[in-house]
Amino acid sequence: MPVKNEIIRILEQNRDKAVSGQQLAEALGVSRAAVWKAVKALEGEGYAIQATQNKGYRLRPESDAISEEGIRAFLPEDWRGYPVQALGQVDSTNLYARRFCTGDGPAAALVAADCQTKGRGRLGKAFYSPAGTGVYMSLLLRVDQPLQDFLLVTLAAAVAVTRTLGRYADVKPAIKWVNDVYVGEKKVCGILTEAVSDFESGMLEAAIVGVGINVRPARFPEELEDVAGPVPGLRVSRNRLIAEIAREIYALSRDLKAPALLAAYRADSMVLGRQVAFRLDGRERTGRAVDIGPDGSLLVETDNGPVTLKAGEISVRPLSGGDCR
Ligand code: BTN
Repeated sequence: MPVKNEIIRILEQNRDKAVSGQQLAEALGVSRAAVWKAVKALEGEGYAIQATQNKGYRLRPESDAISEEGIRAFLPEDWRGYPVQALGQVDSTNLYARRFCTGDGPAAALVAADCQTKGRGRLGKAFYSPAGTGVYMSLLLRVDQPLQDFLLVTLAAAVAVTRTLGRYADVKPAIKWVNDVYVGEKKVCGILTEAVSDFESGMLEAAIVGVGINVRPARFPEELEDVAGPVPGLRVSRNRLIAEIAREIYALSRDLKAPALLAAYRADSMVLGRQVAFRLDGRERTGRAVDIGPDGSLLVETDNGPVTLKAGEISVRPLSGGDCR
């Protein structure tokens, strides 16, 4: 691995302290001059590295470039065989991740980008993805099972996001059914899972789990200003966030039938016990969200009896009062 990459890995893992040139040189088996040269090259690539005499090097707190090595610094060794790509700009990380779904391709692949020009949202919507302020990542998981058996991977992703953000933010975000993550009235994260399937066999070939998070304040387009926002007080690099979310989704996806997954989803839900509004058979309806079914559906008690929602959009305020999505 190039010295530059090793240095980024070590500095990412030691963000809270300086690492001396001597320590780096010893760890990598190179001269201090080689370390200095690599640091200069990294600065040329946009990394903000603070060099203090007698102390050494550390990443400046504001340095938040995404890189393969920066992400790998927080992935376990057994991810070595899985491609990890950090891109500057891409149309959509979900689209890009598809290229790893080939006959002899890897069992998993992770793609992240600083910004997206055609970020995809659910229901054909666009996902606003400006540079420097968000996490845009896609985890491709090769799967050889019926689509039906893997649907809960989106719930797993929502749990992975709230868990990970909760470790580093001032408040723990909550999940709005089915897979948006909110802090208060603001959406901080959206998740879009896309399937690659074999039409003949009806089997899933791969799931591409796309996660978009607003990590820092951004200038949102007018129509999003009131509905989208950043995670308050987030104290973590984008590299670490991407790696930890990917690890968590990967781990949860190994056993989507685990009762602990639904329990965690229910615990993190912001809709259970609340009045929700939704559209059914062309009509606006309201009711109290009471449970999440084993297939991820939402059970709502209405004046006309119970309703089970399998998919779609809900609002936690009556539709007539404005949709808080
Ligand atoms: C939604 O809120 O409707 C879902 C948004 C999902 C956005 C993420 S960003 C990374 C990945 N790539 C995409 O094009 N979309 C997902």
